[in-house]
Amino acid sequence: MSFKNNSYLKDKDFWDERVQKYGDKACGHLTSYQKCIEILKKFSLSNEIHLEPNQKVLDVGCGNGYWCRWFGKRNVEVTGIDISSKMIDVARRLTPSTNEESRIAFQNVAIEDANFPDESFDLIVSLTTLQHITDDERCISAVKNIIRMLKPKGCIVIIEYSPKQKTRNFEHKISRTAQEWKEIFTTQGTKLVEEKGVRFLINRVFGLFEKFEIQFFKITRGEKQDIKNQLPHKIYLLFKYLLLGPAVFIDIILSNIPWKMIQSCSDQHIFIFKKNQNSK
Ligand SMILES: C[S@@+](CC[C@H](N)C(=O)[O-])C[C@H]1O[C@@H](n2cnc3c(N)ncnc32)[C@H](O)[C@@H]1O
Repeated sequence: MSFKNNSYLKDKDFWDERVQKYGDKACGHLTSYQKCIEILKKFSLSNEIHLEPNQKVLDVGCGNGYWCRWFGKRNVEVTGIDISSKMIDVARRLTPSTNEESRIAFQNVAIEDANFPDESFDLIVSLTTLQHITDDERCISAVKNIIRMLKPKGCIVIIEYSPKQKTRNFEHKISRTAQEWKEIFTTQGTKLVEEKGVRFLINRVFGLFEKFEIQFFKITRGEKQDIKNQLPHKIYLLFKYLLLGPAVFIDIILSNIPWKMIQSCSDQHIFIFKKNQNSK
């Protein structure tokens, strides 16, 4: 069922425009903060995902294809899909046709509309994508479609914004709590097999630095480039990097503490779901 309604067009336009504005950098993987988050995600994914050669992986909302290339190094077949045709153009351009990467294919289609045959994939990942479906009905439709395309013994791995309490929504991002994500998936015929926090301190430390930078240097976010060569700003950056490193380290330790109370303090979790025996 196609949902080419206002929210579909709004989401698609948002990401197309981001590519027009930021080019290859449109979905992150650039700033020191994003690099730190990447380390945390890689750590969680490497710990939780065990792939066998030639398995089929679907990366929904693949953006510039960063994670497709990461999976592609693991001797598997990868398909990346994205609602934004401009993102897919970037992903294709950034993915050279080396041996490894020749097994990566991209398709410009929304998750809810993808029509791969039933039970096609061993692993389906959504890495901060479902959180960007701004309409709940479309989000559920996307989840149903993901489950349909998953092989009976396959697994779904999502890393999404998932705080304990609801926070405010943005134009392009909906705040769904950890509990809501679990309900969305388990009511559609899957069971939760793993749940761990991914980031705990790093975003808070980074948020404090952002506030300090704006107030102390009296700049707006867009003006950062103008002062980046001034000595006080260089000293500030040194402190920032010195503190972001330990924050990553502490987050990795926290993500491995098996206490629910600790895990619930994270605002971004990795969830792993498997199909229920009787669901198709
Ligand atoms: C924050 S980016 C994350 C990209 C990538 N997963 C990563 O981690 O680098 C979100 C991506 O989801 C895509 N997206 C949003 N809604 C989608 C939908 N309904 N179907 C497919 N892709 C979607 C956007 O175009 C964008 O590329």
